[in-house]
Amino acid sequence: MKLAGKTALITGAASGIGAEVARTFEREGAVVALVDRDGEGLHALTAELKAPRIFEGDVADSAFVTATVAQLPRIDIVLTAAGMSVGKKLGDTTEEEWDRVFAVNAKGTFLWLRAVLPGMVAGGGGSIITVASQIALSGGRGSASYGASKGAVLSMTRSVALDYAADKVRANAIVPGAIDTPFLRRSFVRQPDPEAARQRSLDRHPMGRFGTVEEIAKAALFLASDDSSFTTGSVLMVEGGWNAA
Ligand SMILES: NC(=O)c1ccc[n+]([C@@H]2O[C@H](COP(=O)([O-])OP(=O)(O)OC[C@H]3O[C@@H](n4cnc5c(N)ncnc54)[C@H](O)[C@@H]3O)[C@@H](O)[C@H]2O)c1
Repeated sequence: MKLAGKTALITGAASGIGAEVARTFEREGAVVALVDRDGEGLHALTAELKAPRIFEGDVADSAFVTATVAQLPRIDIVLTAAGMSVGKKLGDTTEEEWDRVFAVNAKGTFLWLRAVLPGMVAGGGGSIITVASQIALSGGRGSASYGASKGAVLSMTRSVALDYAADKVRANAIVPGAIDTPFLRRSFVRQPDPEAARQRSLDRHPMGRFGTVEEIAKAALFLASDDSSFTTGSVLMVEGGWNAA
């Protein structure tokens, strides 16, 4: 088991990528602490797992972040998967939507990293894994605030990697392509012609298919474990060739 004796905190754990990361990390021996605003989803996942800790709340709520981290004696791994998109062009995006997307995706990463870092430094190290998006690098139609907020996640991750390398805290970002989750399905339903939007996204991937949550969880396991002991400040693309196309 690659994560025996470790504690991993995962945000956005009630669904999609975060939920599969929770299953994978627990299978590999970690104690998992699951964070999501979807309490029902968290409880449903709990039934599948051995002994998760669950924390229901908003990742952008500073008081919730502080209270959650204070309840965990040690955090060796953090993976921030909670995220949202409004699926709009810049000109159609309201100021409230822009602020909310940045609050969840960018601030909702910053707050967790800031909260776990002192413990990681004091404990001799840790692994931080953020979840960005292929859109952060390529841009994407109807994704102005989302792409910009995920760009912030990428550069934040690299800065953390630099600032904490000497403390043995590694920080890496995963760039998923389109992964078959409720998030992806919602993004198509928002479009005037969902089936055409789905097909356009498929066609954009050289591999001609969407990714699976298992494929992202395997990448996360690599970054969480000692298998990636010389990897920090990196952007691990798990996007079926999207950015090469
Ligand atoms: N699915 C994709 O195609 C894809 C592609 C690139 C990046 N991503 C990123 O991967 C991450 C996970 O996405 P997913 O596809 O698994 O989505 P998902 O919708 O299946 O899961 C996201 C989870 O985050 C939670 N969440 C959202 N906002 C929250 C908040 N403010 N506070 C607490 N919890 C909150 C939701 O309740 C949900 O359980 C996101 O950051 C997303 O941007 C997804």
